[in-house]
Amino acid sequence: MKIILDLDTGIDDALAIAYALGEEQAEILAITSVFGNINVKQASMNAAYTLQLLGHNHIPVYKGVEHSLDTTYYEQKQGSKICHGENGYGDLEVEHTSFCEDKSAVDYLIEAANTYKDELTIVATGPLGNIAAAIQKNQVAMKQIKQLVIMGGAFGVRGNISPVAEANFAHDAVAADIVLRSGLPVVMIGLDVTLRTLLTRDDMSEWKQYGKAGSVYRDLVEYYIQAYEKFNPQLKGCALHDPLAVGAALHPSFVTTFPLCLQVMTDKDSLGRVVIDKEAMSNGVPRTCHVALDVDAQAFKQRMLQCIEKVFQNVTE
Ligand code: RIB
Ligand code: CA
Repeated sequence: MKIILDLDTGIDDALAIAYALGEEQAEILAITSVFGNINVKQASMNAAYTLQLLGHNHIPVYKGVEHSLDTTYYEQKQGSKICHGENGYGDLEVEHTSFCEDKSAVDYLIEAANTYKDELTIVATGPLGNIAAAIQKNQVAMKQIKQLVIMGGAFGVRGNISPVAEANFAHDAVAADIVLRSGLPVVMIGLDVTLRTLLTRDDMSEWKQYGKAGSVYRDLVEYYIQAYEKFNPQLKGCALHDPLAVGAALHPSFVTTFPLCLQVMTDKDSLGRVVIDKEAMSNGVPRTCHVALDVDAQAFKQRMLQCIEKVFQNVTE
């Protein structure tokens, strides 16, 4: 399966990269970066460094949009700083590496959609600015792709950035609305399922033996777990938001989905809230958004850990 990862590389995005690289049937064509947990330059650097750390620096990184569609600047949110650190990488050192292609992420996405058509899956685990911009620039091209798997939204559960909204959707609600109403085949992996897939310290017990990659990832996850201990101690682990989107793309049986027409609220009070688009539904618009409502957390986590450890092992040898 040909995959582009569209990421705001913070800690769970970095886990998603390691997991995707370990899935044999996944061919990672590129990473496109977007603002979100950090600014887009830092997101690009974090992605490039992660690829280098894992021995895959031949995979190109394309820099994407710098701020949400309805603003003119980026400012890191307090919650992002707490969960991912000021640099999005648990405040660990991110070694400087040549990090970006000249082409923009948006142009690359359109080009890839035209080249690979229904062979292409995009997994988007940050705010949806790149995807929305690509749709606005060339909807016909983007509509050819096989599927867009999104980590974002809170459908039937409370939000994590406000009582009604999840962070990726709230960080660029206008973009999320454009994407969900575009007619692209979407799989929505929201908090409904990601908060049920948790990583604990025990799950990382094997990572000690895997040299630098294992130790960087242990430090990253430790940072993330400590943030969860502060704000969500009842969960007893950190949520595998972004890796689950990769899992759902490659193993649809990990999640149970329901097809709907969806929209994202863009008014101040309910910014980023995802709801059913009643008008579209009653007009018979095809239900192209498949919302995940249930997850086989055990099967997913087992597979993810197996893949990540394989990647660590290959880079250690
Ligand atoms: O709400 C979870 C999402 O927001 C994840 O993509 C995570 O990386 C984040 O900041
Ligand atoms: Ca993310």
